[in-house]
Amino acid sequence: MAILFDHSNLLASVIGEENGLTPAEIKQAGPGARHALASLRKGFDAGTYGFPALPYQTEIAKSILKYAGEVRGTFDTVCLVGIGGSALGSWALDCGMRGPHPVQRAFSAANPRLVILDNVDPSFIAAALESMNPKKTLAVVVAKSGSTAETIATFLIVRNWLTAKLGRKASARIAVVTSAGKGDLNQLAANEDYATFYLPDNVGGRFSVLSAVGLLPAALIGIDIRKLLKGAAAMTETAWQKSLDTNTALRAAMLHHLIWKSRNKTIQVAFPYSNRLWGTAFWFRQLWAESLGKARTRQGVQVHTGQTPVAALGTTDQHSQVQLYMEGPNDKVFTFWGVNKFPDAGRIPKDRTGFEAFDYLAGQNLATLIDAERRATAAALTENGRPNCTFMLDRVDEEHLGAFLQLMEFETAFVGEMLDINAFDQEGVELGKKFTFALMGRKGYGEYSQRFDNYEKKRAKATLGK
Ligand code: PA5
Repeated sequence: MAILFDHSNLLASVIGEENGLTPAEIKQAGPGARHALASLRKGFDAGTYGFPALPYQTEIAKSILKYAGEVRGTFDTVCLVGIGGSALGSWALDCGMRGPHPVQRAFSAANPRLVILDNVDPSFIAAALESMNPKKTLAVVVAKSGSTAETIATFLIVRNWLTAKLGRKASARIAVVTSAGKGDLNQLAANEDYATFYLPDNVGGRFSVLSAVGLLPAALIGIDIRKLLKGAAAMTETAWQKSLDTNTALRAAMLHHLIWKSRNKTIQVAFPYSNRLWGTAFWFRQLWAESLGKARTRQGVQVHTGQTPVAALGTTDQHSQVQLYMEGPNDKVFTFWGVNKFPDAGRIPKDRTGFEAFDYLAGQNLATLIDAERRATAAALTENGRPNCTFMLDRVDEEHLGAFLQLMEFETAFVGEMLDINAFDQEGVELGKKFTFALMGRKGYGEYSQRFDNYEKKRAKATLGK
């Protein structure tokens, strides 16, 4: 397993001092990085943060594999009901291992597909249900809280859809991942005898891909979850090391944090040159945004910090976004995700056409082209003073993907420590949720109903003025 981080294009010696980091600045940042490592370790040892332990939870992996073995062959579709951290990791794994939509191999009981219901758009849900056969569907409901409105509403529809066709047998077609000993979903699962798996309390949604949250759907669609965990465990070993040379997660965290803060790069573009990593880019977008976008430090000082993550796909977005990236505001740092080896290099036929725009490509391959495009884009951005760096994965397989997800989680957690914020909560989403509960008539949200009414009254009176 090899994942390298090339930071050269963040350095002043390559990109110039206005946009690149000097050796003195990097030296100065060293103690902060070591402090972040020590403080994350302390939180982990105290049991506050649980994600670093996930790769070693072999018992849960065993129980998931046992269940997957028992139900294998009885479904051709896994229907995942969940949202945010309860869905995006599964998308990353499915896209990485089974290939990007819409070009995945045909699905069957031997090769089940994953349908992720992570939005309450009624036409999306209706179309998804129409595309599935209740007799060949296994529903997996994932909600750490056990009460997320979108997940519960969708689950009620899926449960009804299964029951209408299967009657009491529907219970055997539903599995749940939630928190142990609490939440209404957990209670319902017990009442209705659903297969149930738990995620540890000290693992938040967006850090949970290597818990039952991601592992159960992955195992059900045939992903080798032991290899995922093996790669993640190897990355965890290096992520606890003190040396910035070997600790890729810590070095990336230090440099990303430094370039953001010292050169005002308030946007990070995650730029995979691999359709298989596209799901991971969206998973990362949530991880970086929800973990680092915070109003206050741990001491309560108001900071309103955060770096906006953007997902772009190479080479596709070279023809959509790169004009802005090259010539627009210089407020971004670009993180390319490259892949060394593709299972099939995509040979371009040797056929000669006599046309200059065609013939130089004949006999080459797509892997060389996509690599050239990535390196060319990095060089062009660098010439324009746009700092960038690159994670190179040797290949996209279970071990590398497990390691890369864990690397991103460690990097995010380290940056959280550097900012002295709590990277593991999400207070900012609570108010919108409470207004939704109030609008949907949930008991106990009268105060929010009132606040919402006041807001509507203000809006009704708003004019553009004279
Ligand atoms: O990262 C997080 O904690 C959130 O994005 C949650 O995953 C998301 O809100 C869904 O929560 P739950 O799993 O409780 O339905």
